[in-house]
Amino acid sequence: MGSWQQLAALALALCAVSGGDSLPACNFPPSLWCSSWEIAVACQVEKHCPNLHRRPPAAPPVSVSLYYESLCPACRMFLVTQLFPTWLMLNDITNITLVPYGNAQEKNVSGQWQFKCQHGEAECLGNMIETCLMYHLKDVQQYFPVIFCMESGPAVSANLEACLQIYAPSAQLADIQACVKGDLGNKLMHHNAQLTDALDPPHNYVPWIVINEKHTQALQDQAQKALFMLVCKMYTGEKPDACNQGEAESKTSSLSLN
Ligand SMILES: *[C@@H]1O[C@H](CO)[C@@H](O)[C@H](O)[C@H]1NC(C)=O
Ligand SMILES: *[C@@H]1O[C@H](CO)[C@@H](O)[C@H](O)[C@H]1NC(C)=O
Repeated sequence: MGSWQQLAALALALCAVSGGDSLPACNFPPSLWCSSWEIAVACQVEKHCPNLHRRPPAAPPVSVSLYYESLCPACRMFLVTQLFPTWLMLNDITNITLVPYGNAQEKNVSGQWQFKCQHGEAECLGNMIETCLMYHLKDVQQYFPVIFCMESGPAVSANLEACLQIYAPSAQLADIQACVKGDLGNKLMHHNAQLTDALDPPHNYVPWIVINEKHTQALQDQAQKALFMLVCKMYTGEKPDACNQGEAESKTSSLSLN
């Protein structure tokens, strides 16, 4: 698990180092400036991002849905070492859906849903915070870096405020806290439960990975081993440059995350 910890350390270092002296419209740390055309334009660095092309994607993106729990170690490892880096590099051709719930259970107690999580109350809180983040920040470009930052540090929920400050400084912490404690969060989590319970085939472990609406053991194994390669392989449009570079690098095994 060495590489996971390295990445986590890197993310924490990023959290700690990144300052607030960027351009007003550029609410992103330098590590994200070349991650999409929109961000590059906002940060006025598009000329310096050779891998970005304005041309619209020619084919539907590859959908990657992750059914997970905020404190499950294997979920965190997949999110931090596979899903987030793949999304950063293949932003334009990847459609990410995050459903934090996993093996939790719910019960209707006089009209309010009560949740029981595999790793206890702390996990329920982490799931709820991440669900409310997605609701309030709306755009995956905004919330995924925050969720990555939370999941890569040692104390998932306790990292919320620091991660928000770095990755989504315009978000209101109070809105997210109100959602977490109120009816809104309760309803959103019930929706996650419904999405999870509707899985076909039903999930029997986490992380549970669904690619283009399909789960098979083979897809799960490939995604956990090398999601980047899987997305490149499954994308039916013209492959982005990152795919060709990734392939070249994997041949010399310098992209190994293991
Ligand atoms: C993204 O994935 C979700 C869930 O699989 C799906 O409902 C949605 O239509 C997809 N969006 C695009 C643009 O492919
Ligand atoms: C939950 O329980 C309340 C009362 O206990 C009931 O009115 C409501 O219909 C129940 N909701 C569901 C979805 O079962």
